Amino acid sequence: MGPRIFKNARILIVDDEQINVELLRRLLERAGFSRIESTNDSREAVDLYLNFRPDLIVLDLHMPHRDGLEVLDELNAIAEASYLPILMLTGDDTQEAKREALSRGAKDFLNKPFHSDEVLLRIGTLLETRFLYLQIQSQNQMLEAKVRDRTRELEAAQIEIIERLARAAEFRDDHSGQHTERVGQMAALIAKQIGLPDTQVYLIRRAAPLHDVGKIGIPDSVLLKPGKLTTDEFAIVKTHTAIGARILSGSSFTILRLAEEIAFNHHERWDGTGYVGIAGAAVPLAGRICAIADVFDALTQTRPYKAAWTVTEAVSEIERQRGRQFDPTLVDAFLRIIEQRERQAPVT
Ligand SMILES: [Fe+2]
Repeated sequence: MGPRIFKNARILIVDDEQINVELLRRLLERAGFSRIESTNDSREAVDLYLNFRPDLIVLDLHMPHRDGLEVLDELNAIAEASYLPILMLTGDDTQEAKREALSRGAKDFLNKPFHSDEVLLRIGTLLETRFLYLQIQSQNQMLEAKVRDRTRELEAAQIEIIERLARAAEFRDDHSGQHTERVGQMAALIAKQIGLPDTQVYLIRRAAPLHDVGKIGIPDSVLLKPGKLTTDEFAIVKTHTAIGARILSGSSFTILRLAEEIAFNHHERWDGTGYVGIAGAAVPLAGRICAIADVFDALTQTRPYKAAWTVTEAVSEIERQRGRQFDPTLVDAFLRIIEQRERQAPVT
């Protein structure tokens, strides 16, 4: 691969001897390069690098004011994470000079007086590496952007499927489809209020609407029965937690594993008199949070067996159940949320 391929490459020459600069410039121009900048003052090298953004720097080693090694150090300190080849030029043929320059970031070495062919070949090789690096870097960026897009799409699909599953579950006893949504929102508010990290708040927001997914397995005659349920019927209703957990079990997705936990535990009580009888902090936190959000919303809604309570009545009931049905810390968080809401829009 010859240097002509890279004729658009920007090359910066830093050499205190004007004659060397002219020689190199002519050589490069004859080879087809047209974007060449140069300076005889090594103190300008960094500014020129920043303004010109060269693809390659030809740098003299011995210069007044600031020698090539110092310029190398300066460039290393400001160069971004990209491959910037620096070709050192010098009349100093010692191994030590070469070793020093290479160890401080130079990519190759040319001894003065140089042969035109050798200069062009070395510049060509360095530019080839530079452009391959840039190409890989841009391909990587494209791939990363694609992966980000796909991940976003998959997440959106996951959320939508979860929402639709929740809607399917509540379709039979709440055609509005709003209960599960509100439970998700309130559960997230409580989670945020107690200081859970944003990622956890988000997962609870999305998983909580699936708390009653197990109602899919409860017969209409029981689920939609107006009035009081018999003991046997209530026993059937109670199976919706286990059915829900079974529907959601075995998933490798965090959000569905959390939904399974919520589905199974959202009717447990702090005092241990819930469906299964797990008590206190042994009930997973998301289940305890969802229990409050679920009961609060259910109380304020009309159901086949009851009229809607006012918000004030429902809040009093939650407060009354502090330390009985519900985790006291979570009830306190819930009450703070209600207080904040009332300050914004007083409940009448
Ligand atoms: Fe439930």
